[in-house]
Amino acid sequence: MPMATLDLARIRSEFPALAGGTVFLDNAGGSQVLGRVADRVRDYLLHDNVQLGASYRASQQAGERVLSARRAIADLVHAAHDDEIVMGPSTTALIGTLVEAIRPGLQPGDEVIVTETDHEANIGAWVRLAEAGVTVRVWRVDVDRLGLHLDDLDPLIGPRTKWVAMTQASNVLGSINPVAEVARRVHAAGARLCVDAVAYAPHRLVDVQACGADAVVFSFYKVFGPHYALLWVRRELLLTLASLNHFFIGREVIPYKLQRGNVNYELSYGCAGIVDYLTEVGTELGAVGDARARMQKAFDAFAQHEDALAEQVLSWLRDRPGVRIIGLSSAATGARVPTISFVAAGLMSEAIVRRVDAHGIGIRFGDFYARRLIEALGLQVHGGVVRISIAHYNTADEIGRLLVALDEAMA
Ligand SMILES: Cc1ncc(COP(=O)(O)O)c(C=O)c1O
Repeated sequence: MPMATLDLARIRSEFPALAGGTVFLDNAGGSQVLGRVADRVRDYLLHDNVQLGASYRASQQAGERVLSARRAIADLVHAAHDDEIVMGPSTTALIGTLVEAIRPGLQPGDEVIVTETDHEANIGAWVRLAEAGVTVRVWRVDVDRLGLHLDDLDPLIGPRTKWVAMTQASNVLGSINPVAEVARRVHAAGARLCVDAVAYAPHRLVDVQACGADAVVFSFYKVFGPHYALLWVRRELLLTLASLNHFFIGREVIPYKLQRGNVNYELSYGCAGIVDYLTEVGTELGAVGDARARMQKAFDAFAQHEDALAEQVLSWLRDRPGVRIIGLSSAATGARVPTISFVAAGLMSEAIVRRVDAHGIGIRFGDFYARRLIEALGLQVHGGVVRISIAHYNTADEIGRLLVALDEAMA
């Protein structure tokens, strides 16, 4: 069956900021927000802003709204139970929370594995476990093949390995990692897997069950929503973790034991608008079935469109003398998301980006907090990479404008 194509005018009308003229190609830094998400936040604040848990009607109604949003978000990631969803301010904060809750269960001499390609959000909190006597091992980047390789993981896993922390897609290399296979190897050793899905979630439908991980985290501001984030933890594991909340909120009180104070009600409610949008787009593309089947259809169309745009950029970069693509050089295999990094001989990345700024096009330079990766690849000499990160609402025309600007900036 031929793939249904996106109606880009219709898609773009959902994102009010896109009407402003700026070409947004720093989407891996932060995506544009759906109008309907902002509307929901406003609606909640103006009509339901009461404390939850009281017996009066308005409190009951507000509680039901926040709970229904959690159910929708659980569906977005395919959680088996909505009480597996811990909401919080950011991925960095939620991974910190997870590690803090895990820490009392670890012994000196236990081991955790982090990767050299992750954003620091999924490294630092694990590295700090060394203060508790935990040994931290590092899954190194293959500097020639520019990625993580399973052969390099196997020797790191041992009888004391308790957790492996990795990214589902690199926010610099763009490559999608084989997390289900990693989960299989990690579980065979009796250990657990924590996955950072921040760079993956805007481009593929997250499936916490299929990916095999024990914990998955991402931030909504990369997925068409506000600065807010979710941590999913497999229920039987979540129940064993320490409570970080008040003494009378026990281990069994999930997810509240890991949500200190109140969650942000209005943002929780707002984020369900992402699910509505994805479901609606999938339906318009001809999907039938439940909400996940419809969302899957939307993401299939996103991936097809994004791959075409990514290939437009990558083929230009491949043909350009002196350019080195930092990641897979083709989008054809479906092995990458459209987050494309490169460096150019004799040029600082900042100089290229500042010249592109003048065209009203937002791209970005730096290490993107994957500092260990940039250092391992020796890219500090360029001041980090230039990163172009595409979302499904970008157009071929916008990419054309970018390539004209880059041509001028790199002349
Ligand atoms: C792959 C990845 N992980 C984690 C983060 C951190 O997310 P947050 O800002 O919500 O802590 C980012 C932010 O850029 C990211 O790209």
